[in-house]
Amino acid sequence: MKQELYNNLLEQLQGLISGETNQTSVLANASALMRDVMGERFFWVGFYLVEGDKLVLGPFQGSVACYRIGHGRGVCGTAWAQAKSQVVPDVDQFPGHIACSSLSRSEIVVPLIDGAGLVRGVLDIDSKELAQFDDVDRQGLERAASLIAAELW
Ligand code: SME
Repeated sequence: MKQELYNNLLEQLQGLISGETNQTSVLANASALMRDVMGERFFWVGFYLVEGDKLVLGPFQGSVACYRIGHGRGVCGTAWAQAKSQVVPDVDQFPGHIACSSLSRSEIVVPLIDGAGLVRGVLDIDSKELAQFDDVDRQGLERAASLIAAELW
């Protein structure tokens, strides 16, 4: 069951990142763990990090992706601008969606929020199937994002 996958993911993530403060290392291992646990469910999983007025590509697992995304642009830029998770059942129905891969059909993006309430980046996950993400994913990934943010910021 999906909830069990998230329980497993969160338990492993806590141990994996605890005590490490290097941003690249923590995000690289976090994306690798998510891909290991979730397998093909996660076609693309990775991070975009706020740099000035753009989100810039960070560590990820999956195909090559766009480098920079503007504030409020696409699903990632919207999650940043609203400081709120975005669950998109069909990317073709999301106005302004940025297609890094034509194989992506549904998507979830969760903001990474620091202790002061600032969005420092986003966690972006794509699926090759329509409507793959729901509230179980949102809650699990928000927990993962908050563990990561607490470790780094
Ligand atoms: N689809 C995203 C862009 C990032 S790629 O999917 C990795 C968006 O619209 O924000």
